[in-house]
Amino acid sequence: LPAAALSQQLLAWYDVHAREMPWRVGPAAKAAGQRSDPYRIWLSEVMLQQTTVAAVRDYFLRFTRRWPDVEALAAAEDAAVMAEWAGLGYYARARNLLKCAREVAARGGFPTSNAGLLTLPGIGPYTAAAVASIAFDEPAVVVDGNVERVMARMFAVETALPRAKPGLTALAARLTPQHRPGDYAQAVMDLGATICTPRSPACAICPWMASCEARRQGIAAELPRKEPK
Ligand code: ADE
Repeated sequence: LPAAALSQQLLAWYDVHAREMPWRVGPAAKAAGQRSDPYRIWLSEVMLQQTTVAAVRDYFLRFTRRWPDVEALAAAEDAAVMAEWAGLGYYARARNLLKCAREVAARGGFPTSNAGLLTLPGIGPYTAAAVASIAFDEPAVVVDGNVERVMARMFAVETALPRAKPGLTALAARLTPQHRPGDYAQAVMDLGATICTPRSPACAICPWMASCEARRQGIAAELPRKEPK
C-alpha cells in the first residue's frame, strides 16, 4: 500500500480507538474548533519520557491545576515544582522543565515550529517534533521507542538497534502525512502502546496487519532486534 493510504488507514483507526488523555483534544472538540495548547502538549510529553500514561495522568492534572500556563510555571519556586514532581523520577527532567518554561516566558510564548522549539533548553528532537506536530500541525517526524518498534515490524527491519535508528527514522518520515500529522503521530504511539506491543503483539486486531512484513514472515514479536549492551 502507498504511504498515503497507510497513514489514512491508521488515522481512521485512531478516530475510533484513540486513548483518552487529559491533554488530548478529542475529535468532537476539534471539530468544534478547539486547538491543542502547546504548554499542555509540551508538559505531557516531558512527563511521558520514561513514564507511562497511567502514571502521568494525575501528575499532569495537578501540575496544570496549579500552573495553568507557561507563565505561571515560569514564576513558580524551584522547590514547589520539585515537590509536585516527586514520584515521577528522573528529577533532571523537572529542572529542565523549569529552565525551559522560564525561557519560553521570557520569549513571550512557545516557538511555533519544530526548528524554533529545538532552540529551547532541554527540548530534544522527540519533544520538538511531538509539540510541533500535535500543537501546530507541522508534519515533523516523531520518533520514540513505540514508533521505532512499529516501523521495524511494518518493514521487517533486521538491523539491530541502535544502528537501525537512522533507517527507522527515514521510514517514519515516509509515512508521516501532511494532513493531520499530530493525530497521526499520536496514532502510531497508541498503536505501539496498545497493539504493537514489545511482547505478544495483538496482530489480529492491528489496522496495519495486512501490510505488515514482520507479521507476514511470522517474526513480529522478535523485532526490533537489539545489539547486546
Ligand atoms: N507517548 C508519549 N507521548 C504520547 C502521545 N502523545 N500519545 C500517545 N503515547 C505517547
